[in-house]
Amino acid sequence: MGHGPLSGYKVLDMTQFESGTVCTETLAWLGAEVIKVERPGLGELGRPDPVEKGKDTYGFLVMNMNKRSITCNAKDPDGLALLKKLVAEVDVFVENMGPGSCDRLGLSYEDCKAINPKIIYASLKGFSQEGPFKDYPAFDPVATHTGVMASVTGLPDQPIKAGISVADSGTGTQLALSIIAALLQREREGIGQRVDVAMQDFMICFSRSQWEPYYANGGKPNRRVGNGMPLEDVAPSGTYPCKPFGVNDYVHIYCQRRPSSPNWDDLCDLMGHPELKQAVCERMSTPRKRFLVKDEVDALITEFCAKHTKYEVMDMCAKADVPCGAILDVDDITKDPQYVERGLLVDIDHPQRGKVRLPGFASKMSEVTIDYKPSPALGEANQDVYGGMLGLSEDEIKKLKDKGAI
Ligand SMILES: CC(C)(COP(=O)(O)OP(=O)(O)OC[C@H]1O[C@@H](n2cnc3c(N)ncnc32)[C@H](O)[C@@H]1OP(=O)(O)O)[C@@H](O)C(=O)NCCC(=O)NCCS
Repeated sequence: MGHGPLSGYKVLDMTQFESGTVCTETLAWLGAEVIKVERPGLGELGRPDPVEKGKDTYGFLVMNMNKRSITCNAKDPDGLALLKKLVAEVDVFVENMGPGSCDRLGLSYEDCKAINPKIIYASLKGFSQEGPFKDYPAFDPVATHTGVMASVTGLPDQPIKAGISVADSGTGTQLALSIIAALLQREREGIGQRVDVAMQDFMICFSRSQWEPYYANGGKPNRRVGNGMPLEDVAPSGTYPCKPFGVNDYVHIYCQRRPSSPNWDDLCDLMGHPELKQAVCERMSTPRKRFLVKDEVDALITEFCAKHTKYEVMDMCAKADVPCGAILDVDDITKDPQYVERGLLVDIDHPQRGKVRLPGFASKMSEVTIDYKPSPALGEANQDVYGGMLGLSEDEIKKLKDKGAI
């Protein structure tokens, strides 16, 4: 454990579910020694599979690689005393419990700073701890709905929530970035600090492009346009079915809204309709004019796409310099060897689940090679951490275990 740019840094990890665990997984991939604290017997709330009893969820596997696990009942005085000893040993403390939980446990920033003045104390919540919603619990959709995204996603009369946990994984990544920045500041200035990030706040900042139409339209709420172009009524912008018309056999094609863009002309050549090019066909001579005959434009593209698979359309469009993306689902990606070959997907051998292929760290760094390890078994590092790091004897560890403190 602990080889990489963050090697030597220790993280006490009281995270759960996706948001917080993604943060600490990122730190672990980059080499930090991440010690995940879990409830004795049960583990983190996201660990137990509700259907396959006794097994860890695949979600736990994908969000907790490269970590170590210890068990500790933070509500037992002996358990809390152990956690406080660990706070003294680590560089970073990370948590994403419900509002006020850490304070109630006796592990607030002030508590931890009193033990370790240079600690980086990182909290992830649904809402800002300084705002009126500070006591509200939150899962991902709560943040995507209160943080702009749902207001601009979907159809005009039907907001739709995102299909992936943008707020969870996004906020976790933002927290990891902030922790690394705080560690750099500590190196230079010798100070620890508190780092707070709220999922709603992350989503608001992640939605930054929405302020362009907001001001351009005189401060009115931004519209939902399905697969259309949200900033401007232009065509084409759509998602079109392809052969063999399975559930995810679609491509998205968008020709730039900039009137001088050659995208439409290139697409016309590709589709075999040079008579519709901008210099020839007045009705289709600008992106906005094409929007007025959008049904006709979409029908032409639909007819073209229906003759090919999504991969063929994507390839032909790219070669013709037309922006186009096939819908690639998890199965498409898991079975395509290119992602494993370039190290984006990694094959993990998990003791309970066998060989599983999961996404790793998205960046490539020329001086970093990540050694991926499976998520830990519950309490697998108790002996190492309590015995090695805190110096407890076998007998002391057994007594703590017998009374349910660890
Ligand atoms: C996600 C969320 C709604 C879940 O709420 P929840 O199921 O009620 O769980 P909580 O986080 O509130 O924690 C439950 C309890 O476990 C306790 N606990 C946590 N780790 C413990 C441990 N090792 N030993 C003993 N108790 C522990 C907490 O102290 C808390 O007790 P309290 O309710 O008496 O304060 C809430 O944690 C939250 O809003 N988190 C912040 C936002 C977030 O990250 N959401 C997205 C998750 S993907």
